[in-house]
This record gives sequence, C-alpha cells and structure tokens, in this order.
Amino acid sequence: VTASDLDSFGILLMECEQRDLHSLELSMSRRLSAAARQGDLPLGLAAVLDFSADVRQQQQELPPGSLPPESLLRPLFAGVACSHISSRSLSYHRELALLRYVLETAQPGHPATVAEAFDAFGRNLGSTGSWAKFAGGSKAMALLAAMRAGPPAPGGQSDSETFGVLEIGTYCGNSALRLAAALPSVRVTTLELDPVLVAIARTLVAFAGLCGAIEVWTGHSALLIPRLKRRLVERFQTLRSRPCFSAIFMDRWGYDKDLALIQEHGLLQQAGGVLVADNVLTTAAASFLWTVAGPTASFVSQVVAVSEVADSSQEDWMSVSVSMSQHSELQSCLEALPPELAELQTETERFRQRVIVDGGVGAEEKPAFTRHAKATLTRAGIGPST
Ligand SMILES: C[S@@+](CC[C@H](N)C(=O)[O-])C[C@H]1O[C@@H](n2cnc3c(N)ncnc32)[C@H](O)[C@@H]1O
Repeated sequence: VTASDLDSFGILLMECEQRDLHSLELSMSRRLSAAARQGDLPLGLAAVLDFSADVRQQQQELPPGSLPPESLLRPLFAGVACSHISSRSLSYHRELALLRYVLETAQPGHPATVAEAFDAFGRNLGSTGSWAKFAGGSKAMALLAAMRAGPPAPGGQSDSETFGVLEIGTYCGNSALRLAAALPSVRVTTLELDPVLVAIARTLVAFAGLCGAIEVWTGHSALLIPRLKRRLVERFQTLRSRPCFSAIFMDRWGYDKDLALIQEHGLLQQAGGVLVADNVLTTAAASFLWTVAGPTASFVSQVVAVSEVADSSQEDWMSVSVSMSQHSELQSCLEALPPELAELQTETERFRQRVIVDGGVGAEEKPAFTRHAKATLTRAGIGPST
C-alpha cells in the first residue's frame, strides 16, 4: 500500500461517506484491514480498521455516551498489543504506539484520562528528541480556554442552534475529544485527509465514550468545506436557526485557503464566531495572521504564546479570533499585506514545500525559521500581548 494508494482510497472513502454508501464504505475499510493483515501496513492497524468499521456500523444503536461492547473492544486490545510485530511497512508506527499507550494507560469512557495519556506520550516523545503532532499541554489549555469563553450568543440563542465546532486536521483525535469533553452540549465535526488516521481517531473517540459527540469526516478540507453546509442541514433537519459553526479550530498548514473557503461558504457564525488556529508561528502564517489580526481585520484577535507538549522550550503561537462583521474583508486585507510580511509568506510557502513535499528540512532549520518568523511578525505588530 503506497501513499498514493492511500490518497485514492481516502477519496473513495470520502465519497462513500458523503453519499451514505454505508456497505461500500465498510467493504472498503475491510479491504484496507486485509492489506494490513498481509503486511502492507503495520499489523496492529488491521484490528484498528476493523474496530473503527464495526463501531461505525453499530453507531446508530449505541446510546450517546456509551462504550462499544466488550466483543469489539477485546479484539482491538489484542490486535494493538501485537502492533510492535514487524511488517513490510514502517508507516504509522508512531500513531500505533500512541494508540497502544492510550489503550494501556487510560480508562475507557473517561476522556480526561485519554487526554492525560496523550500528553504523557507527547512528553515521552520529547525526551527521545521527537515531536508530537497534536495540540497537547499548554496548546490544549489555550484551545479550551478560547472555546469555553465561547462566542457570545446574540439574542440569547444557544450553541445548540448552530452546527457546533468544526476542526480541520483531526490526526488521532486528541483535540476533538478534548473539545467534546469540555463542551458537553456541543457537537464536534472534524476533518481528516488520511483514512488510516481517521480509523485511529474514531477508535480513540469510541474508547473515550464520545462517539455521539464527535463526527470524524474523511477527506481533504478543500473538498469537504464546500459540502459541509448542505450535508449538515440535510442531516439535522430540526436545526437550526443558524446553519453555521459557532467555532472553528484550524490545525493544518493551509490556513489562507481554508479561511477563504469558510468565508465563501458562510460557515463561521458572522458576528461572534470563534476562530482558533494552531502553529501560526512555527508555520509563519504571515498572510493569515494579517487577515485575522492586522489593522483592517474583520476579527478581534489575540495571539497566545504556547509551547509544544514534547518540548516546552519550543515556542509556538495560537491565534484566537472573534468575527466582528457580516462581510469578509479578506481581499482588502491581503492587498494591504506589508512587503515584509509578503516576503515572509513567500518564504513560508517555499519552506512548506520542502517540509511536506520534498521530505523535510535539517534539524537546525526549523528553529532558525521560527526565530526569523517571530522577529518579522513582531516588527509588523503581530504577536502575543505581554
Ligand atoms: C497537526 S495535525 C492535527 C492535530 C490535532 N488537531 C490534535 O491536536 O490532536 C494535522 C492533521 O491534519 C491533516 N491534514 C492535513 N491537510 C489536511 C486537509 N487539507 N484536510 C484535512 N486534513 C488535513 C493531517 O493528515 C494531520 O493529521
């Protein structure tokens, strides 16, 4: 199973989910787990893919807040326990190790213990010189503080009248389950490109007892964002005076494109919607920060200094923004991007190409790039308030 096989598989799975082709979706998931059994993916993934498909099949029957039955949990534990056994594929080893750690150390049905396990795993990764891809530790605290403060509810409307919270970039489900646990009456919809990560996230969501509160959608944000509103309106016909999200958490490198689509499709509550973005310093998100925090922004924004759970000495920023106006001023903001930030934006796009497409950058380059980004953004008046 190559990366491009998985990309194609992800697109097919997305279409099945979007068109409610449940049996086709399930048979495709079984084919992926068969590939894992044959050694084309790490062996432990077979149990995860089967568990996630079974939970999806039974989801309608599971009362909200309930745990999957023992008959499904037992083979999951057994399959993941042998996930260290080698296979031809080295991919997803870190994610399987994370899953195994959570299943072994957290309590089923207790999201707080699952979140603690994520953090402990992240700190362990840090002690071996690796980094964690999820928002744990101070990042999780900043995210939850922003979301708990929440959008003001104009006219006394409650959050249940919106679609709830949207997350772009699920990874293994850490932030989605923290959000659902912290905001009990709020539905969380989260988007993930990679079908294997979708299965891992769905597994951890089910293990935490949060199936009824979180929906993980397979697919690329550029393809899913335009479909979200129609799909959710169809799904929740009893809704909803405001067919939009009251809050959005952006956690993938591609903020400008996602924000432009969110605005084009009116997905964020027009006045008072909360928009949080992670990694905006380490990815040097210059034009995005100018859009949400520059002088002509249609948001009121605060930039918050946070650190990586795997390395507390590594500074990053999150932006927390509240939408203020009915209409997007995206275009005028981008036109007004100062030359120094426009140059940083070009640099960040080149850097992204090297990190994501060309296979990475040297160990010293990332911190150097972050220092350069911090100095440039600070000179432009963007940064955490002291
Ligand atoms: C930083 S991780 C998200 C971490 C997660 N929010 C957490 O804190 O637990 C980013 C994730 O976004 C996914 N991703 C990247 N581009 C995407 C896109 N265009 N649409 C959906 N998911 C995407 C990646 O596969 C990766 O799993």
